[in-house]
Amino acid sequence: MAENKNTQLMEKIVSLAKRRGFIFQSSEIYGGINGFWDYGPYGARMKRAVEQLWWREMVETRDNVEGLDSTIICHPKVWKASGHLDQFSDEMCDCRECKARHRVDQMENPEVCPNCGSKDLTEPREFNLMMKTFVGPVFDEDHAAYLRAETCQPIFVDFHNVRVAARQKLPFGIAQIGKAFRNEINPRNFTFRSREFTQMEMEFFCDEAEGMEWYEYWKGQRIKYYREKLGFTDDFMKIHDHEKLAHYAKAALDIEVKFPFGWGELEGVHHRGTWDMSRHQEFSGQDMQYMDHDNKRKVMPTVIETSVGLDRTILALLCNAYDEDTAETQKEGKATDVRTVLRFPALVAPVQIAVLPLSKKLSESAKELYNDLNRHFRSEFDVTGSIGKRYRRQDEIGTPFCITYDFESAEDNSVTVRHRDSMQQERVNVTQLRSYIEERIGY
Ligand code: GAP
Repeated sequence: MAENKNTQLMEKIVSLAKRRGFIFQSSEIYGGINGFWDYGPYGARMKRAVEQLWWREMVETRDNVEGLDSTIICHPKVWKASGHLDQFSDEMCDCRECKARHRVDQMENPEVCPNCGSKDLTEPREFNLMMKTFVGPVFDEDHAAYLRAETCQPIFVDFHNVRVAARQKLPFGIAQIGKAFRNEINPRNFTFRSREFTQMEMEFFCDEAEGMEWYEYWKGQRIKYYREKLGFTDDFMKIHDHEKLAHYAKAALDIEVKFPFGWGELEGVHHRGTWDMSRHQEFSGQDMQYMDHDNKRKVMPTVIETSVGLDRTILALLCNAYDEDTAETQKEGKATDVRTVLRFPALVAPVQIAVLPLSKKLSESAKELYNDLNRHFRSEFDVTGSIGKRYRRQDEIGTPFCITYDFESAEDNSVTVRHRDSMQQERVNVTQLRSYIEERIGY
């Protein structure tokens, strides 16, 4: 029963995301392409807002973190050094009966096809997840290259370039936002597991002796960010400490959130030891160590990583925000109406304020107000349909504040601010409006 309800909920979220222009299938008119998603007007706005928030939190407000924007295609040796070319693979098997392909690690019983129950399965085989391409006019193995499977590898490779240019000393971090590609065998759960996605990663370089301290620090910072900026509460988010660690790792955890299809990883915080830098030293033949002039010694930097998917963040925000209410709607005089509402935090809502003239006759003055507010907030102007319908439309895209410009407004220089969640209305003087909204957004 509960599973059924959760499937329905997920279907509603996917359908709303498409209808309201958040996310839809890539290449839909050609039947779509599995594991690839396009962001429509509101999705694109929101993605940009989350990126900016993350960048501000992780780079701009910190003197000890620098930004990087590297290429998607790197020298193929980067992926040899990182281990991706040899080890970044999933074990798969095929059902000879129904032809379904399964990841062995996700099968409850690896001897039985979860799709049709047949026991006629092929032997497990390894599938590499790196996306391959060719650089230059000749399409042979000598010209093969790969789309990056994670954004962090170029950060390791560029460590000295960034350090010298930014005059940084250990400890410091390098952050990057960008596309990553994985030839996932089973893309699923909407955008949760895609083949093209955006990562936001930060690699913090420090002395080995301080590794655990920084690991705890970044863990705390990231949890605080989700609580305070994205509004994730403890019933929606949990920490999963890894018991089984990669051989080089000292500690690792996932920040998981409760999607309708179950708990899923949103972000990883990893203590990667000196593995990455040592590997790049070994494969490039370059000295990747840091000269600690104060103590007159060379150290191989230890790395603490925070790594989150932007697409998964948007999905988490959508799932956490989705709500339907009836009782509240009655306040606006429609007893039987079910209101669909996305309760996004105002900080990342695609539209933060909507200016709604009560009548078309008021459009000109209301538009002036909109133009003014639009310089400070993500804003929308809407004059089409009854005011009730316009409120509902804004509820569905998660706009926290609707500003109604009515016939009194020109006279008393005030507008009505209607709050999405409480549906309470307040009269606010236009001269106070900007600070009133800023305060409530929580910049
Ligand atoms: N550099 C470490 C790293 O890439 P990961 O756990 O493989 O670690 C980090 O990925 C984050 O990237 C995940 O927590 C998730 O948010 C996102 N991610 C990974 N694979 C993804 C996929 N196929 N589709 C969407 N997001 C993905």
